[in-house]
Amino acid sequence: VDSVGCSERVGAQVRAWKAEGCRVGFVPTMGFLHRGHTSLMDLARSHCDRLVVSIFVNPLQFDDVTDLERYPIAPAADAEKCRAHGTDLLYVPSNFYPEGFSTAVSVGGLTERLCGATRPGHFDGVTTVVARLFGVVSPDVAVFGEKDYQQLQVIRSMVRDLGLAIEVLPGPLVRDEDGLALSSRNTRLSVKDRRRSLSLHQALLAMAQAVDRDVESLIALGKSILDVDRLDYLEVVDADTLLPLKEVEGKARGLVAAYVGETRLIDNVAL
Ligand code: PAF
Repeated sequence: VDSVGCSERVGAQVRAWKAEGCRVGFVPTMGFLHRGHTSLMDLARSHCDRLVVSIFVNPLQFDDVTDLERYPIAPAADAEKCRAHGTDLLYVPSNFYPEGFSTAVSVGGLTERLCGATRPGHFDGVTTVVARLFGVVSPDVAVFGEKDYQQLQVIRSMVRDLGLAIEVLPGPLVRDEDGLALSSRNTRLSVKDRRRSLSLHQALLAMAQAVDRDVESLIALGKSILDVDRLDYLEVVDADTLLPLKEVEGKARGLVAAYVGETRLIDNVAL
């Protein structure tokens, strides 16, 4: 639908719900919905009276043009899943940014490392679209998956820094039965590469179960298990600041990003 009219109607509907005393929840997505997304809807639903879901493949956050061009879509199936998981309003703008849009929202620090180091501009694209989505929808509570662990921390940081009155809830990562973290990009994997992709979770799991708490040894262990074509990073970081640790202590997180074939995958576990 046309972005301007559509955004205005979404805003008006949310204001009407709030005037009735409803708490409004929000799950932003890029579509091609799977159980990971629907679990976020279920979680949001349990914290709100009305649920808004958005589907918009945001060009600003793609650092790789072919990744954007190959991004899968499934509008009819997505709408059905939203309906089945308690969505009251599905917001699907075709042209989200108004003519002359010239604003960027950029979070420093947290975005400089990990995915930020290998995907230039990615997080600025994410925070810019999420800030505008928050402006259009003005939810009371928004849910972001722990699958994109760094993104979750970046959004939290943006909400805190800008003083937005939005509660950000983390949704647990959802895996297939074989352990592969659910992602819309998994459909691009060949049968052989899908098998190799399991090594991301296996490496993190071995690191989580190891008795050794020395990070250098844990990384070496993880790397010995990974079966990938290019490793962007395998790190053990503080779960809040995302700064690298030398020893696993307090709240630590193991994070990995790697290419299997042409497909870039990410995964993480609590250590
Ligand atoms: O996690 C995603 O799917 C996207 O980064 C988000 C939050 C919908 C912004 O485009």
